[in-house]
Amino acid sequence: MADISLTNITKTYANGVTALAELDLHVQDGEFLVLVGPSGCGKSTLLRMIAGLEEISGGELKIGGRLVNQLEPKERDIAMVFQSYALYPHMTVAENIGFPLRLAKMPAVEIERRVADVAQLLELTPYIDRRPANLSGGQRQRVAMGRAIVRKPSVYLLDEPLSNLDAKLRDQTRSQMVDLQARLGVTTVYVTHDQVEAMTMGHRVAVLKDGVLQQCSTPRELYRNPVNKFVAGFIGMPSMNFIKVTASGEMVNMGPHRLDVPPALQNEIVRLEGRTFTLGIRPEHLELSEAGVPLEVTGVEHLGAETILRLVLGDSEGATQIVVRVDGDKRIERGETVRIKLTEKLHFFAADGVRIGPAF
Ligand SMILES: Nc1ncnc2c1ncn2[C@@H]1O[C@H](COP(=O)(O)OP(=O)(O)OP(=O)(O)O)[C@@H](O)[C@H]1O
Ligand SMILES: [Mg+2]
Repeated sequence: MADISLTNITKTYANGVTALAELDLHVQDGEFLVLVGPSGCGKSTLLRMIAGLEEISGGELKIGGRLVNQLEPKERDIAMVFQSYALYPHMTVAENIGFPLRLAKMPAVEIERRVADVAQLLELTPYIDRRPANLSGGQRQRVAMGRAIVRKPSVYLLDEPLSNLDAKLRDQTRSQMVDLQARLGVTTVYVTHDQVEAMTMGHRVAVLKDGVLQQCSTPRELYRNPVNKFVAGFIGMPSMNFIKVTASGEMVNMGPHRLDVPPALQNEIVRLEGRTFTLGIRPEHLELSEAGVPLEVTGVEHLGAETILRLVLGDSEGATQIVVRVDGDKRIERGETVRIKLTEKLHFFAADGVRIGPAF
């Protein structure tokens, strides 16, 4: 097992694209670290650099304390599942999974035993003699996973390994992978663009945007104390609401509305007197209240346990859509007016997007 330490890592491709800029990150021994960010932010590039498949333009990469910048992939003791994995079409499931062990010249009996273990773990035992062409997309993806985990390397690198699975199988495989990683204790870097996957799987989550690391924290910390507007909007479903407001006395002005701020945050608002800033409010942190501001409901999504309301705040001058999550038992229809008030769970962001104000 091994920790991974990235210091001042930069990647510039031959065409001049800077895919990663001055990235510092430390993945602890045995940690499950998730790299998340929108398409093109540099996730696969980073993973491929750790694997040794992409040259490092600048900075230091260490695995288990050893500088590996110049080492060949096979000298790094890692196993990787690629975003676009490929199975050998002429080999059976068992042969595909056992391939890395045959390469390593392991005795046949030992290979058979390990392949059987992995197949059982990934629920592939019934398909062990089939060829990839005769499997579903999800089964093929699990074979690719199996091929990676059949060895016990120092590090697993997984690039969107669940992207081809349907929602149910994805959920199931997600928790299987978390269990598996906990059991094996192998340091893992897992790439996804799906924030739900990131939040549910990672011990810590590193959020990337345009090749720049924004924040690397526990899921709880990312949700409660996002360092900037980007992280705040990226983590959480539905996304955080952002409302441009001006501090005035102990309240905030938003277009024609004056919004009451809970007492615990009034000092903070007084401190910002006259300043315009962005209020960040998660949909689950707005409340229906008789004393609240009246807003028209322009959309309703009934999800069963909860209902998502879309409301309009402001007037024709500057209307903002606000999303509120309420209990599924509430009967609210489109076109109605509801009254909404702020709770204490507010985030403040300066004009440049950086978090200001109190931490939770
Ligand atoms: N071989 C290459 N040559 C030039 N630019 C590249 C190369 N590979 C990737 N890029 C660019 O580098 C940036 C990062 O790409 P990367 O594949 O790491 O993104 P990603 O975060 O994995 O995205 P996705 O979620 O779509 O897989 C992108 O702007 C991409 O166009
Ligand atoms: Mg990618």
